[in-house]
Amino acid sequence: MSRIAYVNGRYLPIQAAGVHIEDRGFQFADAVYEVVSVVGGCLADEEGHLARMGRSLSELRMPWPVAPAVLRQIMRQVVARNRVRNASLYIQISRGAAPRDFRFPRDPSPTLVLTCRAARFQTPEQLQDGIACITVPDIRWLRRDIKTVGLLAQSLGKQAAAEAGAAEAWQIAPDGTVTEGCSSNVWIVTAAGVLVTRPASPLILNGITRQSLLRLAAAMGLGVEERPFTLEEAFAAREAFISSAGSFVLPVTRLDGRPIGDGRPGPLARRLRQAYFDHVGAPDPVEAGR
Ligand code: PDD
Repeated sequence: MSRIAYVNGRYLPIQAAGVHIEDRGFQFADAVYEVVSVVGGCLADEEGHLARMGRSLSELRMPWPVAPAVLRQIMRQVVARNRVRNASLYIQISRGAAPRDFRFPRDPSPTLVLTCRAARFQTPEQLQDGIACITVPDIRWLRRDIKTVGLLAQSLGKQAAAEAGAAEAWQIAPDGTVTEGCSSNVWIVTAAGVLVTRPASPLILNGITRQSLLRLAAAMGLGVEERPFTLEEAFAAREAFISSAGSFVLPVTRLDGRPIGDGRPGPLARRLRQAYFDHVGAPDPVEAGR
């Protein structure tokens, strides 16, 4: 069965779907996006993702192409037409097609694209053993809080990680603190058992999974500090993990070839991952798929 995409009002087989060559998403990365995980048929943190999309649009002075309530219906249609239970749902909105000019078009007609891809998210081994990460300098622009499709730095970082046999690259600010992964937020657990993650600011994307985990951690009575932390602190941590739509809570057990803690996934990451799926209302797809 062919995958079905939604493009500006039409549901099409993915091979037949396309956008204009002068689309500003293509020409200028003048586009925002969201990734929503579909877990056991549930749209994980849908509210949060749509709220952040609204924020990204308004920061770039782009209108919603359709009302958020309509977008919700389209999201469900795309999931249904692709007949998936576990999947990544991508929503992309650009300022639309216009003759190439850096300045905004006077009468923009935004492009809305949704695609959906069946996902296993992680392998059981990745969950059992944790993942390896490398570090790369953070070379991005300074509005990382806007979820734009300008992802070249992250693509280079992920490629470097893959070539080093790692699953993710942590981006390091010039002051030696960790900003975030290329497509995830980063967390450590200190020797004293405190969860630490960088506070929301224009220097990171304020992850929707991150925000849910902060609420869950508070409800669980865990000690949490939102502050920048250095690479040295990460090497001295008891545990580390990443969070994102799709990785959920994924233990990091090696960083630049060195073990974190005892080199095994830690108990706090496990508890938070479970808490996250309880919050989504679906079982962990990796555990369920074993
Ligand atoms: N990326 N930081 C960056 C740079 C990201 O690209 C992402 C998500 C996150 C985590 O955000 P959230 O919890 O809302 O997914 C943090 C998605 C998954 C992607 O680009 O594929």
